[in-house]
Amino acid sequence: MADARVDPAGSRRLALQVVTLPRDTNPLGTIFGGVILGYIDQAGYVEARRHGAHRWVTASIDRVDFKAPVHLGDIVSLFTRTDRAGTSSVTVRVEVESERYLTGDRIPVTSATVTMVAVNAAGRPIPFSSAPTIMMGPGRPASDD
Ligand SMILES: CC(C)(COP(=O)(O)OP(=O)(O)OC[C@H]1O[C@@H](n2cnc3c(N)ncnc32)[C@H](O)[C@@H]1OP(=O)(O)O)[C@@H](O)C(=O)NCCC(=O)NCCS
Repeated sequence: MADARVDPAGSRRLALQVVTLPRDTNPLGTIFGGVILGYIDQAGYVEARRHGAHRWVTASIDRVDFKAPVHLGDIVSLFTRTDRAGTSSVTVRVEVESERYLTGDRIPVTSATVTMVAVNAAGRPIPFSSAPTIMMGPGRPASDD
């Protein structure tokens, strides 16, 4: 039976959109690769957070090949899906696209597979299906309202 925690192959949801600013770019006007890696990390967290209100840490980011540059002013979109759900970890596919500032064309930039692990306050892995472990106030579970 299909795992309901896992998304169908090929599906994806928007996790993050960011405008490329001068501080993100090198003297050629293209983005630093490390900035994209930071966005990939954040997108992995956004997807993992859907599976439980916990501290999530990044266990791994697999090989990242940059296929096209991102230019100053481009809008970078990061799409995610959950490819695998374990006990304390989820494996997230992240796809990165750049919307060109001048033309609006959407260009695939890179993709990555990120594994996020739910941990307790001591940093030890915990089942992410457990009750929320981050609190908004004394004794109060985190909530979206
Ligand atoms: C990630 C971390 C919590 C794993 O701790 P650990 O004691 O090795 O964990 P375990 O061997 O019990 O594995 C726990 C889960 O993590 C997964 N996991 C552990 N290391 C992994 C890795 N390098 N890549 C992918 N998954 C990994 C395991 O497969 C397991 O998944 P499951 O519970 O869904 O089956 C620990 O290595 C850590 O704290 N790393 C630093 C994280 C961090 O600070 N990241 C920010 C960047 S510096």
